[in-house]
Amino acid sequence: MKIKEILISENYGDSVVVKGWVRTKRTSKNVAFIALNDGSTIHNVQVVVDLNDISEETIQDVTTGASVAIEGVMIESPGSGQHVEINARKIEVLGKADPEKYPLQPKKHSLEFLREKAHLRFRTNTFGAITRVRHAMIFAIHQFFNDKGFYNIHTPIITGSDAEGAGEMFRVTTLDLDNLPRKEDGTINYEEDFFGKETNLTVSGQLEAELAALAMGEVYTFGPTFRAENSNTSRHLAEFWMIEPEMAFYDIHDDMDLAEEMLKYLIRYALKHCLDDLNFLSKRLQEEEKNKKQEDRAPMELIEKLNFVLENKFERITYTQAIEILMNSKPNKKKKFQFPVDKWGIDMQSEHERYLVEKHFQKPVIVTDYPKEIKAFYMKVNEDGKTVRAMDVLFPQIGEIIGGSQREEKYDVLLKRMHEMSVPEKELWWYLETRKFGTVPHAGFGLGFERLMLFVTGMGNIRDVIPFPRTPQNAEF
Ligand code: 4AD
Ligand code: MG
Repeated sequence: MKIKEILISENYGDSVVVKGWVRTKRTSKNVAFIALNDGSTIHNVQVVVDLNDISEETIQDVTTGASVAIEGVMIESPGSGQHVEINARKIEVLGKADPEKYPLQPKKHSLEFLREKAHLRFRTNTFGAITRVRHAMIFAIHQFFNDKGFYNIHTPIITGSDAEGAGEMFRVTTLDLDNLPRKEDGTINYEEDFFGKETNLTVSGQLEAELAALAMGEVYTFGPTFRAENSNTSRHLAEFWMIEPEMAFYDIHDDMDLAEEMLKYLIRYALKHCLDDLNFLSKRLQEEEKNKKQEDRAPMELIEKLNFVLENKFERITYTQAIEILMNSKPNKKKKFQFPVDKWGIDMQSEHERYLVEKHFQKPVIVTDYPKEIKAFYMKVNEDGKTVRAMDVLFPQIGEIIGGSQREEKYDVLLKRMHEMSVPEKELWWYLETRKFGTVPHAGFGLGFERLMLFVTGMGNIRDVIPFPRTPQNAEF
């Protein structure tokens, strides 16, 4: 029986078998208490062992980290903290964990230490909670779109194109790097490569999702994406998961409405289905906050923060308005920003995004209509010819959580944009064809799944909300 089920059961007297990993063992004269966890819940079940019934040899091997199968009887717990516990009749140690060597002894470990023990960190309360919340969010995303009649599309992971045009791609090749085939002019002959051309890991499934949307109406992809940007921050991964809905007949306003509805749905889902884990994460965070200076502390605890986002409509402003606010802001005038805001046209940095959200509006903000120079080629050009119909959703502590836009559906304008931005037209002939045959206004966005996880769990570093993070100089496990 799963511990989660045992803990809500009142079938006192029933026999059960539980299997899991020992968190702690306390021994007194004639009894031992084992706290057992099996991953099904943040809570442990208490197993009471009468030392007259179980051999000394066995109980000696029941140490933190060991795996056990325990047969026993559910009884009403006389102790506080739980209403049911298990009286052990038989204990089988499935796998010992040498106390001299097992790294996760029951004491506080730093997140940095646990990153080096990513193969074992699932066994901590924190990573158990994060793993369950992560699962719930994946499930909720599919639920959300399924309920709305969207189709899930698997877009390719190996591609020949650069969807974002940013050139931050990982090469995929089977060529012998020590002995590359060359053409007469000395350049590498990719015709001899596996696919007969240059290929890479995808940075986004959007372009292929657009193809599907232009027949199926409303679709979404949810897959791994890869970026070889060398940004070693607490918000960037080289391999992350992205949710990308793409909708025919949507304009940018419909796009923003969907983004806001989706984020609120996911947060509400977490509050409803993961409250035990969120309460644990909130307490953990509050402990951490105590070590910070007053002015660096988060203004709200986790659950309060999540509810706050649910209760408030996201502020919607244009890039031009955002720049005006930033230029006139105190930190800008006092030269507190690392990147000063001095003119229209600059790319907003995370510090600027967070100022707008955390200080100025004090709620999530959607910024629209960015200068076309700082956005991707596929975004629809506005009538002013200077800005594009982009929309970025900015969240407290995170900055950009969603990036999206209405797409350029006009063939001529799109082709011109591709030329302007040096996007190879030849490689994207299929993308261009959708604008030749039955093109329609359409829009979509990308939600960074780990950024969502950061927000929902309140964790501070993106390396801690994905089981096995990939970052520059790090691909262990
Ligand atoms: O803004 P981005 O680059 O947009 C796209 O890729 C579009 N094709 C999406 C679309 O319109 N279908 O990325 C979208 C989101 C960002 O807002 C951010 O949340 C996340 O993906 N993201 C990252 N998350 C973790 N690590 C990285 N290196 C990320 N880069 C982007
Ligand atoms: Mg973006």
